[in-house]
Amino acid sequence: MSKTTVDEVASSNQSQNETFEEVFRRRLNRRSLLKGAMASVPLVVFGPLLLKQPSRAEAQDDSALTFEPIQLSTEDAVIVPPGYVTQVVIRWGEPLHPHVPPLDILDQSAELQAQQFGYNCDFVGFFPLHQGPFRRASRGILAVNNEFPNSELMFPGYVPGNPTQQQVDVELAALGVSIVAVVHLPRRGWRYVVASEFNRRITGETEVEITGPARGHDLLKVSYDPTGTKVRGTFDNCSGGKTPWGTLLTCEENFQNRFANRDALAADDPRTAIHTRYGLPTGATLQRWELFHPRFDLAQEPNEPFRFGWVVEIDPYDPTFVPKKRTALGRFRHEGATVVVAPDGRVVVYSGDDERFDYMYKFVSTGSFDAENRKANFGLLDAGTLYVAKFNDDGTGEWRPLVFGQGPLTPANGFASQAEVLINTRGAADQLAATKMDRPEDIETNPVNGKVYCVMTNNNQRTAAQVDASNPRANNIHGHIIELTEGGDDATATTFTWEIFILCGDPNNPADGTFFAGCDPSHVSPISSPDNITFDGEGNLWIATDGQPSTLRKNDGIYAVPVAGDERGCLRQFLSGPVGSELCGPEFSPDGTTLFCAIQHPGEGGTLEKPVSTWPDGTTPPRPSVIAVVKADGGTIGG
Ligand code: FEO
Ligand code: CA
Ligand code: CA
Ligand code: CA
Repeated sequence: MSKTTVDEVASSNQSQNETFEEVFRRRLNRRSLLKGAMASVPLVVFGPLLLKQPSRAEAQDDSALTFEPIQLSTEDAVIVPPGYVTQVVIRWGEPLHPHVPPLDILDQSAELQAQQFGYNCDFVGFFPLHQGPFRRASRGILAVNNEFPNSELMFPGYVPGNPTQQQVDVELAALGVSIVAVVHLPRRGWRYVVASEFNRRITGETEVEITGPARGHDLLKVSYDPTGTKVRGTFDNCSGGKTPWGTLLTCEENFQNRFANRDALAADDPRTAIHTRYGLPTGATLQRWELFHPRFDLAQEPNEPFRFGWVVEIDPYDPTFVPKKRTALGRFRHEGATVVVAPDGRVVVYSGDDERFDYMYKFVSTGSFDAENRKANFGLLDAGTLYVAKFNDDGTGEWRPLVFGQGPLTPANGFASQAEVLINTRGAADQLAATKMDRPEDIETNPVNGKVYCVMTNNNQRTAAQVDASNPRANNIHGHIIELTEGGDDATATTFTWEIFILCGDPNNPADGTFFAGCDPSHVSPISSPDNITFDGEGNLWIATDGQPSTLRKNDGIYAVPVAGDERGCLRQFLSGPVGSELCGPEFSPDGTTLFCAIQHPGEGGTLEKPVSTWPDGTTPPRPSVIAVVKADGGTIGG
């Protein structure tokens, strides 16, 4: 496979006025000039349920990571540095209620699966509960996404392309969200609470309400919901976010995989163009849900796909809460949805559209966050402005509004209302000439320095002629991370500056063309396909990967990297996952002494008959699980 170095890209891209080295150098100089000013950046995340408090605003100099980096591995195990220990908190199929039996793949049903922990855990959000009776004990609720089924690892004798209805129904019940209470006990560590009143599953069949500007639009009406206001379920929930008012945002990502027979619609049906832009398949789907559920067959329900691809808000503290699809945040393959509160109190939600050559978005609310009245915030995500990012090669950029009637978003270009702009967000962003990115995944604001970190996981289809400064490598199989500074350090700004933070790959392989914010490559661990991110209390960036088995030929893992100080860019590997798995949802406990993460699809690439992983219990099936990593001495993770 031919790889292109940064230098080669720079010399082959005629649209650029500067080489990347020149751009880096200029921005690094500007950074050092701004360094003093940045120390006083206001904290942009706050609220009664803040989960990540920086210990102090000027923590940059305390950002050093002290753990001994681990090496890439192919071992079927979770590996962490010396001094750290891991435990499984909850596995796929474990009961969420006392009367529910544990997983038995020979005797599974949709009814049981809907009361057990779901499959393929991804996003992990920790929502605190009051302190327990023990000195170091703490309690919380984990809200965990369940993204997609690995049918061959769920059902003995599964026949691809020819599932039974029971198998399809179990899959619908295995996806969505799992909400489960957890408690930390002094000698036993983290345990989930089987009898908690908070425990709940939201599945592909749970009733969900549609809210915001697209609610009730004709394109959202189907035979079983002629009002366009209610949906059966949520699925392909990838990453997500937590709001400052303590709710979960869960993101519908690869929903297009569920809907069959796009070619049943007439070519000149306006819906065909939208479904095509969103990548719905012609013909059958992989898992064939359409065989037993007509709503997944476009020949019968051509509008059903418009009811997916949204961000869904759920109150994990209220087991009776009806989940809400917040249409104001747009419809695309939402990777995540991370929330900050701007200086004036308005709420900003960043979200990437995880597709090659698709876009980065942010939503700015009309109303403001009310720290005194939690419920007053529950409609905040229903009114506001959605923007898409345009990156300029000179290190500047702008957020372009997706507002009906403005610019090209008019009936002449196929948009009759704001609802249609939102339902066809991708088409609207195309009209605005947004920057085509290398698969935007997580986008999060660093609570210490206020900058926004934007993860591009990879893009093996970008050609040398298509590189630009913000996506600077052709055949970008390893991905990169962009550091973005909003104008005036205000998340509502419509302009920004940016620089490349990391070009991933093996720092010891010159052909990879890596860059680690100027850190000496000999101090850097190899990394590929960054995906989900979070920050520790010192503002260090923690990165989970999804794709290293196909690029570095090693297991996926979790990494940490300082964003400031002498160690800026000196990335080191913290964790290696089991065979076939990706790592997801890194999430710190509020005190920073536990790192929760999800082990998704362990054993992928094998089958129950020919397993490649037996994690976590040394048996088949391998079981997607949430784990907790702690320091043996109980100290702060990373430090
Ligand atoms: Fe489900 Fe974008 O990863
Ligand atoms: Ca992901
Ligand atoms: Ca994240
Ligand atoms: Ca991914």
